[in-house]
Amino acid sequence: MRDAMPRLTGTPGVYLRNAWYVAGWADGLAEKPQAKVFLEEPVALFRDAAGVAHAIGGRCPHRFAPLGAGEVIDGALQCPYHGLRFGSDGRCVFNPHPGGQVPQASVRVYPLVERHALLWIWMGDPARADAATIPDFAWLADPRWEVVRGATCAEGHYELYSDNILDLSHANFVHPALVASAFTEGARKFWQDGETVHAHYAQPDDYLSVGISAILGVTGRKQAFDGHVIWHAPATLSFDFRTGEPGTPYDQLSNMPSLHAFTPETADTTHYLWATGRDFAVGDAEFSQTMRGALEYAFEHEDMPLIRDAHRLMAGQDFWELRPLVLDGDGGGIRARRQLRKMISAEMISAEQGTPA
Ligand code: FES
Ligand SMILES: [Fe+2]
Repeated sequence: MRDAMPRLTGTPGVYLRNAWYVAGWADGLAEKPQAKVFLEEPVALFRDAAGVAHAIGGRCPHRFAPLGAGEVIDGALQCPYHGLRFGSDGRCVFNPHPGGQVPQASVRVYPLVERHALLWIWMGDPARADAATIPDFAWLADPRWEVVRGATCAEGHYELYSDNILDLSHANFVHPALVASAFTEGARKFWQDGETVHAHYAQPDDYLSVGISAILGVTGRKQAFDGHVIWHAPATLSFDFRTGEPGTPYDQLSNMPSLHAFTPETADTTHYLWATGRDFAVGDAEFSQTMRGALEYAFEHEDMPLIRDAHRLMAGQDFWELRPLVLDGDGGGIRARRQLRKMISAEMISAEQGTPA
């Protein structure tokens, strides 16, 4: 993770505001507050005296220091620069300097929900934040699943990262250990269901990749494979990777579910949280370590550098104006991009008209 704040001087991006974004792993926010940037807005994350997590504006209104780099005193967040303290309602609750209190000083409050081992932040109108619309990742906090996970900040636009998960055909070229004909030759289907986009890959009787066969203990044996990616706007994806002996009914295939959550930091950088669960070898720390290492390598050392370089070669130009060639595997990514544009446009029009989107 990078320690310094990103520079916020580039071309501003356009984002969906009224949406839940993943702000981090819940247990990653302990007593020490965090200074983050989401959608180019500085945000401070902290826990109050009761341990409840909060998100408030991250730029101190005095001399603009990062509030999240401060500390929590008596349940309020103290600015690291001159010590003003802000409560979870965003108001200044303490001024250590002569001149009295300054309760008129305040920062914005962002709805924040702790759910499924994650912190979810709402970057739009607080009155519209409905926790019931947070996607279901209950397995992340369910002890029946052993979960390996990671978090990093990646260079590249967040939609390029969503494309990457929706189009698994890249696996054969980017991830040598994951080469499998299921990704490039298997049956695939893309569709939209309301505001979610689906990508489905299936191969009923074929070899899994070398790496995954070894993990599952099926080296040299053909298997049924079913991969189902679901995209939730703006860029939170699940990927169910189901396998079993050929002919196994779908509901009896074993599943390794994944989370890939992309939250834009800026138009050029993306917070990337990932996790993969398994319901076998639960409690096997050595197995987890091997699995975590392999996944971290694939995501952070194979996917990320390619996407970073593609982003750099786009040089800030609009994706559609570059007239991208559309291949068969793009059916999910393109639906997701169109759906997101539609939601952002609706939000912008309603903001202009002063009506709810
Ligand atoms: S910058 Fe925060 S108190 Fe001065
Ligand atoms: Fe990948």
